[in-house]
Amino acid sequence: MPNIEWNLAAWSSGRDWSGEGEAWSAPWGSSEAQWFGMLYPRLHRWLPARSVMEIAPGYGRWTRFLVPNCAAFVGVDLSATAIQACQQSFAAAEHARFHRNDGLTLPPGGPFDLVFSFDSLVHAELEVFEAYVPQILANLAPGGVAFLHHSNLAALDPAMDNPHHRARSVSAVKLRQLVEASGGAVLVQEVISWGAIVQHDCMTLFGRQDSFPQSQPVLLDNPETWREARMIQQFQAPWNR
Ligand SMILES: C[S@@+](CC[C@H](N)C(=O)[O-])C[C@H]1O[C@@H](n2cnc3c(N)ncnc32)[C@H](O)[C@@H]1O
Repeated sequence: MPNIEWNLAAWSSGRDWSGEGEAWSAPWGSSEAQWFGMLYPRLHRWLPARSVMEIAPGYGRWTRFLVPNCAAFVGVDLSATAIQACQQSFAAAEHARFHRNDGLTLPPGGPFDLVFSFDSLVHAELEVFEAYVPQILANLAPGGVAFLHHSNLAALDPAMDNPHHRARSVSAVKLRQLVEASGGAVLVQEVISWGAIVQHDCMTLFGRQDSFPQSQPVLLDNPETWREARMIQQFQAPWNR
């Protein structure tokens, strides 16, 4: 079970961060290819933004694309090692601040136009979302959105292997119920595969109900994520690899 203690142990001082997480983008070719081929097309309506919060930036694999796209940036991570690395890497960006947290409490700030997290909270159990979702909604600017990548394992066979250490208590449905019960409106949920495992994860985009009073959730099932990754990799210019 990847609880907060597991995450703290997995991502802190003993961890080899020498590649800064770049290897996790190998299926897309590089983090640049993954950002512009996979993530930015799903986020382009919300960028650039006045203010952005990134939850769990690690060593800044996505931070380097978010920081130049906003006037104020807050990054928050459980790992002191990750926060120190981001403070060093983005020292020249005076509008960027980084905070270490306890895995449940978001720092003061905002209102935020975009709250972003990718390839981190897949390892967070439901208790983390129960803590974060109300805080996110309370700190979203009118019209602002949150884009969270999370596990969908609670929707799958409980006896299945879990090679990517996904949270077993989280699913797209549970996240949607939590967002709605907390005063939010889910705009899009895209269930994705990870490697060979279909419906492994989900990306949920949501805002405040008062910002999106008429919206109905768009629920997408995308079993082609890895084929999409291969295509992105195949058609990248060599300088993006
Ligand atoms: C696999 S790394 C990914 C980092 C980055 N998102 C990337 O894609 O390169 C996971 C990061 O999530 C952080 N993390 C895990 N659970 C967290 C939580 N509940 N709150 C804040 N940070 C968390 C870890 O400390 C670690 O830096």
